Amino acid sequence: MCGIVAAVSQRNIVSILVEGLKRLEYRGYDSCGVAVHQDGALRRARSTSRVAELDALIAEDGVAGFTGIAHTRWATHGVPAVCNAHPHFSRERIALVHNGIIENHEELRAELRAKGYEFSSQTDTEVIAHLVDHHYDGDLFAAVKTAIVQLKGAYAIAVFCRDEPHRVVGARAGSPLILGVGEGENFLASDAMALAGVTNQIVYLEEGDMVDLQVGKFWIEAREGDSFTRVEREVRTVYAHSGAAELGPYRHFMQKEIFEQPRAIGDTLEGVEGITPELFGDGAYKVFKDIDSVLILACGTSYYSGCTAKYWLESIAGISTQVEIASEYRYRDSVPNPRSLVVTISQSGETADTIAALKHAKSLGMEHTLTICNVSTSAMVRECKLAYITRAGVEIGVASTKAFSTQLAGLFLLTLAIAQTRGRLTDAQEADYIRQMRHLPVALQGVLALEPQIIAWSQDFAKKHNALFLGRGLHYPIALEGALKLKEISYIHAEAYPAGELKHGPLALVDSEMPVVTVAPNDALVDKLKSNMQEVKARGGELYVFADADSRIESESGVHVIRMPEHYGALSPILHVVPLQLLAYHTACARGTDVDKPRNLAKSVTVE
Ligand code: M6R
Repeated sequence: MCGIVAAVSQRNIVSILVEGLKRLEYRGYDSCGVAVHQDGALRRARSTSRVAELDALIAEDGVAGFTGIAHTRWATHGVPAVCNAHPHFSRERIALVHNGIIENHEELRAELRAKGYEFSSQTDTEVIAHLVDHHYDGDLFAAVKTAIVQLKGAYAIAVFCRDEPHRVVGARAGSPLILGVGEGENFLASDAMALAGVTNQIVYLEEGDMVDLQVGKFWIEAREGDSFTRVEREVRTVYAHSGAAELGPYRHFMQKEIFEQPRAIGDTLEGVEGITPELFGDGAYKVFKDIDSVLILACGTSYYSGCTAKYWLESIAGISTQVEIASEYRYRDSVPNPRSLVVTISQSGETADTIAALKHAKSLGMEHTLTICNVSTSAMVRECKLAYITRAGVEIGVASTKAFSTQLAGLFLLTLAIAQTRGRLTDAQEADYIRQMRHLPVALQGVLALEPQIIAWSQDFAKKHNALFLGRGLHYPIALEGALKLKEISYIHAEAYPAGELKHGPLALVDSEMPVVTVAPNDALVDKLKSNMQEVKARGGELYVFADADSRIESESGVHVIRMPEHYGALSPILHVVPLQLLAYHTACARGTDVDKPRNLAKSVTVE
């Protein structure tokens, strides 16, 4: 989603801004722009194309400066167009970039219009630029302070002023913003990755913080209601990866990330010699002892990993578990249970809905919080008492793959740790599960070797308009995840159902044009699943079955089978999701879509 980079220096910072934007490209965007202070005026370049094109425009126009701001925009208010791209100017004096959504923008716009401000975009952001200009009286920091008190909603902003050439002001509330401290120069960015190679001295600005950046100095003030107090924040050394990872032999980052899963799972489980609650942080034993239920909050793919974990937590740990879509939970009247463990799951750790749902749960008195997250420095990790950091590595493809399987690995460990605390895990079971977890990277290699067969299937799928995905039990969430993958990158309409639910409605959709993907592990429900497959076959539907080698499901007319390795027990979902990722990937390739950056989607959804 939107990305911010800003800098104050004594050297030309345009290449740092552009490089920073390139590193944030993976988040998804539909326009981009840069503004600098140049020869006593504001200069700007904006584009609805990629950052590379913006870079060319900058070179052509000779845009250069010591102070500047840059942005990648993912449209919320106003179509993707140059006029809506950031930075926004006010009266050729204030330049501003913004992530988030201003909820009272219409009211503020009307007030500013009445004061004579003219609007050149449909964005909520332009309102902030004019508001800062309206309050400006020679001190940018003071003007921003007054302006943000009037804002309702979420924002991370970076602003500079024509009349104060060596100053950038930043502020955040509800959207992430970090400060990068350099030698004689300072930076702002949406995440530390944007500044990789520029500085590794990072301050994670906290909710309500404002920061004043000048050459060689900065200070931070924290907001409390309408007043601000000077605060010190820890400067941490952060070794952020560069987003510009190499593709190597792969066509897309998504393909690379699918194939990285054996390594990612191995890294995530590295060092786990035995099960202990302390894997999740100090004090976890006491928390796990105290809880009587689990509440999982997440969005998208992370929500589906939570749905899978519900099966594990209830059957292995014997603890009642509820899984909620974060954007729903945060606004509904629920019955809080202070003895529930609130578990958030997030790849980015910055998803606005999940963070808001977590804060909502805390505001209802639920103090036991834990996150399964891929970014150790994220807001989610900072907001939770306990954490397990997955080690998927940077995920560039918008469609989540290795983040999902490593979340499952983390959630399985959580299940075992809670089971142990509740006296439901014998030493022999623990040893057996650990052995199976250690073997996962090898088992995953076996599944990845199925790629050529999946490519053959993808040629059929590429011609379809719809697809159904079926699973049962533990593998129903895997079917959901498979359908999400297919729709988000191939744009084929796909839905998933628990196979037993088919006859209660969706069976009406089945005809020879409807491919029905079936996740068929050789588990306790396999015979029930076979009956459901017959229901499809009898209506002329084409079944595409991922069947465990020992499930005795054979290919026949209308039934295509790809044989998975033998059944892998409770950890089987980690294997079964992989062919579904590959099917989506190769179908999207066959349809020629932009696999790593599918239309309308962003990697890190930092607005509501
Ligand atoms: O960073 P998060 O895990 O919190 O993100 C949640 C969803 O936005 C994300 O999983 C999304 O659904 C992916 N595009 C799915 O591939």
